[in-house]
Amino acid sequence: MQVQSLEDLFLNGLQYVYDAEKQLTEALPKLAQACSTPELRQAFEQHLQETQEHVRRAEKLFSALGKQPETKPNTVLQAMRQEADKMIQMTDASPLRDAALIVAGNQVEHYEMAAYGSLRNFAQLLGKQECVQSLQQTLEEEKKADAKLTQLGESQINKQAAGGAAASAGGR
Ligand SMILES: [Fe+2]
Ligand SMILES: [Fe+2]
Repeated sequence: MQVQSLEDLFLNGLQYVYDAEKQLTEALPKLAQACSTPELRQAFEQHLQETQEHVRRAEKLFSALGKQPETKPNTVLQAMRQEADKMIQMTDASPLRDAALIVAGNQVEHYEMAAYGSLRNFAQLLGKQECVQSLQQTLEEEKKADAKLTQLGESQINKQAAGGAAASAGGR
């Protein structure tokens, strides 16, 4: 499809984000399973439930536009998932791995925040008020998920990861 208007750009962005959300319903259980900190696992599991709702919300947005839900292969998300898989392979189950999973999670949430922030603004400009509210709601949930991951990292997990590294360096 040739993008020739803000409306086209809006639909295009929605197709990418719809694909991203669908990919994340597969990726988040893997991240949760790889965690050793229970609070981090819970955070990923809770955001999985929100993400399943994001998929449904995206579908409603398509129908509000009079379109069938359609994905556009989101290669940015594919690359982020591959990097997260590699990080799981390169680490043992430990706070260090958890610190790495927080980085991966923060990166995904920032990507989603950028996508939803733009889509919400496009919807405002296009006068699609029913879409604005839904996009705003998803944006807020992405921001909260991002903040939760950051808080878990900064309050405990990153320090434990540093402690583990220092202990093994000291032991040499
Ligand atoms: Fe999402
Ligand atoms: Fe998210």
